[in-house]
Order: sequence, then structure tokens, then C-alpha cells
Amino acid sequence: MSAQSETSAKKITLRKLQARKQAGEKIVCLTAYDTSFAKLIDAAEVDIVLVGDSLGMVVQGLDTTLPVSVDDMLYHSQLVRRGVQHALLMVDMPFLSYTTVAAALENAGRFMKRAGAEMVKLEGGEDQKDIVSALRTHGIPVCAHLGLQPQRVHKLGGYRVQGREASAAEHMLHEAQVLQDAGADMMLLECVPATLAKKISEELTIPVIGIGAGSDCDGQILVLYDILGISPGRNPRFAHNFLSDAGSVAGAIQAYTDAVRTGHFPSPEQSFE
Ligand code: KIV
Repeated sequence: MSAQSETSAKKITLRKLQARKQAGEKIVCLTAYDTSFAKLIDAAEVDIVLVGDSLGMVVQGLDTTLPVSVDDMLYHSQLVRRGVQHALLMVDMPFLSYTTVAAALENAGRFMKRAGAEMVKLEGGEDQKDIVSALRTHGIPVCAHLGLQPQRVHKLGGYRVQGREASAAEHMLHEAQVLQDAGADMMLLECVPATLAKKISEELTIPVIGIGAGSDCDGQILVLYDILGISPGRNPRFAHNFLSDAGSVAGAIQAYTDAVRTGHFPSPEQSFE
């Protein structure tokens, strides 16, 4: 096999992610913000690398993700792109960069054309269906983000678990279906009770990725710095420091990947009821 065909055999595509869901094989995702970490993550055969707007908090030292700009995201996405060969590269649309269809197309287009993004992620529910649909029309893969939406932290009154009440749970399931129907290719659930995340994962045909959403999602994502335990003062209950046991950054990323693939992460203690 030539080097080129070896690369394409390992390349993660939307079709492969969909097949993973159907086969019941867990999808492994992790954030990255620069080339060196991206190379280590790609070497561990993580499926999706997200350039998250969490970079505002873990890289830029901000209290929220709100000030992160399109230019910040573009810069970090270009760095990550240089380190990723096999994983699918997903980029977060930052706060207020998708308030209209025109803005969403313009900004998602910049990430795809100038940073090689293969999917964009945006926060919001039913209110985002026209945006998701327009992106789909123009061939831009979209991951929708429900549950705790950090860009709405002030509206939510803090970083808290979403969908605990029966009516909120029902509404989230409804919004997930609307977004799937609008053309979302993937769904991310953040800080959602495990039983609700399980139900949404079962009901949707697209892959559902969880963070603080229990072990029954189709895949898991964490912020890279949380699995390395290198953000002082930041210790989310749903995360785990894989570096302390692994002893090296590459080992920690591999341990996280293996734990997700085998269903050992997250445990009930890292999930919400
Ligand atoms: O910005 C980010 O890193 C994210 C993850 C928390 C999923 O959206």
C-alpha cells in the first residue's frame, strides 16, 4: 500500500462516523489548539479534533468563551490543521459569528477555505435550524451543540447541568430532532443527565457526542487541558486527569482514547443524573 492510500484508509470521514454509530463503536473526540498537541492526538487515532472556543478559557485565560473572535478561531485552526492528518477537523463557530445565514456562511466558509475545517460546531436549539439548513445547502457539515451552551452562560445563570426537569428534557429531545431534520450531521450534548443523553442518542440517527452526558452517547469529547490537568482551578467533575497515571502527554492521550473506545470512560461518578 502506498503512503497516500494508507493515509486515506485511516482518514476519518462523516460516513465512517455514521458507520461507527451503526456498529455501536465509540467515537473519540478531543480538543486541540496548536500543531504539536494536534500531532500527538492524531497519532493516538482520535477520530475528531475540535478547535474549541474553550481556547478562550484554557489558552487565553478568559472567564468565558464570549470574547473569542473569528480571527482567534481561524489562527488556532490553521495551527491545528498542520498537525492533523487522519482525524476529522471540527471548528467552533464563536459567539455571535452565526447570527444570520450570511454571517454563518461567511465565517464557516473562512474556516473551511483557510483552515481546512471539515465540520463546524454551533451552539443553540431550534432557533438555529435555518442556519443549520443553510450550511447544509452549501455543503458545510454541522455539529449542533445542546445542553449546557457556554456561549449562553449569562442567560443560563452559570455553568450548570441542563435538562433535569421533565419538560426541559422533552424540549431538548424535540430540539435535537429539529436540528437533525434541518441537516445537522452530528450532535454534541454538554452536561446533560445520562438518561436523557441515552434517549437522545437512541432516537437520533446522527452520531451523538457527550461531555458530561454519561457513557451511552455514541462518543465522548473532553477539553485536552482537562485530561492533562494543566488548567489551575479548573477541575470539571465530568473530566479525568489521565496524565497523572500515564506519565507522558502522549500516554495520557492514548489512555483517554482507549478508555472511551472500551467504554471505561466516563464512569457514573463522571456523569450526572
Ligand atoms: O469549546 C469546546 O471545547 C467545546 C467542548 C467543551 C465540547 O465546545
